Amino acid sequence: MRIVHISDIHCTHGTDYNEKVYEKAVKIVNSLDADFVFVSGDLTTDGLLSEYELAQKKTKEISSEMFVVPGNHDERNLGFKLFPEYFGDTDFIHSLKNVTLIGLASSEPDKDDGRLGRGRYQKIVDCIVPHKLTIVGFHHHLIPVPGSGRETNIIEDAGETLDLILRKEVPLVLMGHRHVPWAVKIHKTLLVNAGTFSCNRTRAHYGYTFNVIDIEDKIITVSIVDIKKEQTKKMVEFNLVDGCCTNRYYDLNNK
Ligand SMILES: [Fe+2]
Repeated sequence: MRIVHISDIHCTHGTDYNEKVYEKAVKIVNSLDADFVFVSGDLTTDGLLSEYELAQKKTKEISSEMFVVPGNHDERNLGFKLFPEYFGDTDFIHSLKNVTLIGLASSEPDKDDGRLGRGRYQKIVDCIVPHKLTIVGFHHHLIPVPGSGRETNIIEDAGETLDLILRKEVPLVLMGHRHVPWAVKIHKTLLVNAGTFSCNRTRAHYGYTFNVIDIEDKIITVSIVDIKKEQTKKMVEFNLVDGCCTNRYYDLNNK
């Protein structure tokens, strides 16, 4: 199974959004023949109607099936009322091949902070099905992301959420928000952040990126695609059977 993980598109008629990069990125995404695309929020910059219209128009260019959760920017200025109209339910569960995808809305109106809350913990517990790989996706990050500046906006209930995810051995969590691609394994869970797809607020040399996640024979491989350079680099490989994890950021042999 192949999943494309996109985040932080930031469609706007202002300066945040880079249409040229977006067009290039979509061409690459469409060439990857993904089983589905997961977008971890911030499709807009200010949650405005014109931005939702633009985001809907642009994301329709993606040929694979797409699942979307809202980010903090999408909930600004009553954007939380527009999101369901343009992108459907903000919390969802989809059963796809051998995977269960649980999308959760971590954002709240007009706040940059996020939280999941007890109702969503129950949703995670209820949706874990034996013999299916569980993927949980939301916008905000669960633990600090290196290289993304002063730490803010980890979900308010990060401790409880992390505890639940680790106890339930959820193998894969997909997040965004920080505009920095990163992954780390904790216990039996791989936590993955996507960088920004098309927002001009890139961080240092990270540029515009998205993640490609390949799941085969109980091995999860996450690669980063640098959109401008059209380069793909393996970031992390996690073997669900023996728990082995190789991470380009930390494994000396693979830097
Ligand atoms: Fe965000």
